[in-house]
Amino acid sequence: MSAQDQRLATGADAQADARPDLILDSLGYVGVSSDRLDDWKRFGHDIAGMQPVETTRRGLTLRMDDRSQRFVISDDGGRGFYGFEVSGPEALERVARRLDERQVPHHEMDRVTRDHRRVSAGLWCLDPEGNRIEVFHGPEVADQPFSPGRTMSGFRTGVLGLGHAVLLAADAPRMVTFYQEVLGFRLSDYQHQPFEAYFFHLNPRHHTLAIVAAHAPGVHHVMVELGALDDVGAGFDLAESSPEGIAVSLGRHSNDHMTSFYAHTPSPFMLELGWGGRWIDVDRWQPYELTEGPSLWGHERSWLTPEVRETARRMRIRASAEGRSYPVHVRDGAYDVIPEGTWTPSTLRGLVH
Ligand SMILES: [Fe+2]
Repeated sequence: MSAQDQRLATGADAQADARPDLILDSLGYVGVSSDRLDDWKRFGHDIAGMQPVETTRRGLTLRMDDRSQRFVISDDGGRGFYGFEVSGPEALERVARRLDERQVPHHEMDRVTRDHRRVSAGLWCLDPEGNRIEVFHGPEVADQPFSPGRTMSGFRTGVLGLGHAVLLAADAPRMVTFYQEVLGFRLSDYQHQPFEAYFFHLNPRHHTLAIVAAHAPGVHHVMVELGALDDVGAGFDLAESSPEGIAVSLGRHSNDHMTSFYAHTPSPFMLELGWGGRWIDVDRWQPYELTEGPSLWGHERSWLTPEVRETARRMRIRASAEGRSYPVHVRDGAYDVIPEGTWTPSTLRGLVH
């Protein structure tokens, strides 16, 4: 067991005994710095199914639900930002106290930034690799209903937030420590093969944040969850013929059970469009090492080296041979139960869940 494993195992035991209080609620918005605003408008509308609502010479915002904005694209030459939501002024003050205790410099959001983010109040700090982390409350709700960019059911947000962000980390242990011990993220699971990654939750979404060990900091991908499997399939067809193209083929994740694909975006990171993510019990969750690989099937990753892709493929084939399969997670009314009589004990094997 590596030193990092020992530390994580200790952390897992500590969590089981006394779960640290969550001080953040969800991922509320994502800021992207890009000068390709027209491409982002087309991509957000046509492929992701979001609603562009404000276009200026230097900025674009995208809606996913009743909020005024969820993605903020700015031609500002920066590195973007991640906005985590809290319930109100007291919760924001609690985050500020935590940052003070851990001697993390932080700053109150100024009026221009609050207006830009369309929130009542907030603060920001930098994580150990320079990612700008914002914490806010009081997001603006639009006065017009959400209208998706393409015909589809919509996005799963609410208490789960807009989805998840996966960051590339040059010093993964340091980043893991920061997000766990400073910002109160709870470990969901972690893996060493076919690449090193740590998954964290804040709410019943299996992960709101993940850290992937890499040579340099950056954003790996952002995931948004759609309301129907067919919405994802239609998005796959559209993305395949888009200028950006497909980055990761259709597949199903073994930890959050999401069926998804990843599209290249106009920026150097991917957008995962998913469906059917599991709902975890935050109070009873036990972190564990994920040994079956990140995907049950599919998810051929163009961003990996041929050697690591081969390792990932072998892990998927082994998971299948072991009979690994998970229930689908569906909205009430979005399914049809088939007659039991079509299955018999001799045709239906037991499956490993
Ligand atoms: Fe993801």
